[in-house]
Amino acid sequence: MHEQMKRYKMLLEDALAASFFAEGEQDELSQAMRYSLLAGGKRLRGILCLAACEMAGGKLEDALPFAMAIEMIHAYSLIHDDLPAMDNDTMRRGKPTNHVVYGEAMAILAGDGLLTDAFWLMSGVPNARTLDALREVAHAAGSFGMVGGQALDMRFGAPYEGLEAVKAIHRKKTGCLITVPVVAGLMLSGASEREVEQGRQYGWHLGVAFQIIDDLLDLIGDEAQMGKHLGKDEAEEKMTWPAMVGQERARMDAKYETDAAVLALDIFGEKAAFLRQLAMNMLERVN
Ligand code: IPE
Ligand code: IPE
Ligand code: MG
Ligand code: MG
Ligand code: MG
Repeated sequence: MHEQMKRYKMLLEDALAASFFAEGEQDELSQAMRYSLLAGGKRLRGILCLAACEMAGGKLEDALPFAMAIEMIHAYSLIHDDLPAMDNDTMRRGKPTNHVVYGEAMAILAGDGLLTDAFWLMSGVPNARTLDALREVAHAAGSFGMVGGQALDMRFGAPYEGLEAVKAIHRKKTGCLITVPVVAGLMLSGASEREVEQGRQYGWHLGVAFQIIDDLLDLIGDEAQMGKHLGKDEAEEKMTWPAMVGQERARMDAKYETDAAVLALDIFGEKAAFLRQLAMNMLERVN
């Protein structure tokens, strides 16, 4: 597990560091894009894409541009999430946020650049299912997915509107970008419709669990390990899972969602060992 994780992570880091907007481009926009994209992070979404593709017998070189692109879209979502008009955060991945370093205008443009270039990158993959996978990513990133979830997240403070509302926000703002790397990785491997649907179920449950843990870590996590300021959800009366049901029940619900994610992979048998373990590890994460 550990070795496989390291292999995927290194593959991704190297590819991102050497990617198309890296070489010879010293202008401020490229610097701002690289600043956030190469600042570390767990690379969960990219790893999910590589692992799903390899699990189903696909070629890693087909999944790699999608893994990179989804990490680029994720990095853009974080840059914009941290803007003063949104969560107004000054720390991310252990460094000052993009807008603190480059100013708001450049941070907005760095996000726009990462998002748009991600689609350029994916569109170049010579695979029979590239367009299908690309459509999935577009759907997951836009108003039906992450952007839609961020809009809901912005609009809702107290009073709370129920756990189903929180779940809907979690699914959109976080679940979509955790589900789509699995779906895209499977599609590019030539997996069957049924396999893709089981991968989608895995992603949905993992995504909800992931955001419940993020909300918990905002309450009880360690700032140095997390690399971002914590405690803001409570201060701003965000509609989070622990705010709705308390910390203990939130942890149980995250476990329940993780179990459901693991079960969804039955169809893949032994080959899913890595993705199963990855989901379980996310329950115990400290960053
Ligand atoms: C942070 O995502 C934003 C959420 C959706 C909770 P991650 O916790 O995956 O952030 P990085 O990529 O590791 O920095
Ligand atoms: C962010 O959720 C989700 C996206 C960026 C799409 P949060 O606002 O809780 O993420 P953090 O806590 O700032 O990483
Ligand atoms: Mg936010
Ligand atoms: Mg935030
Ligand atoms: Mg958070």
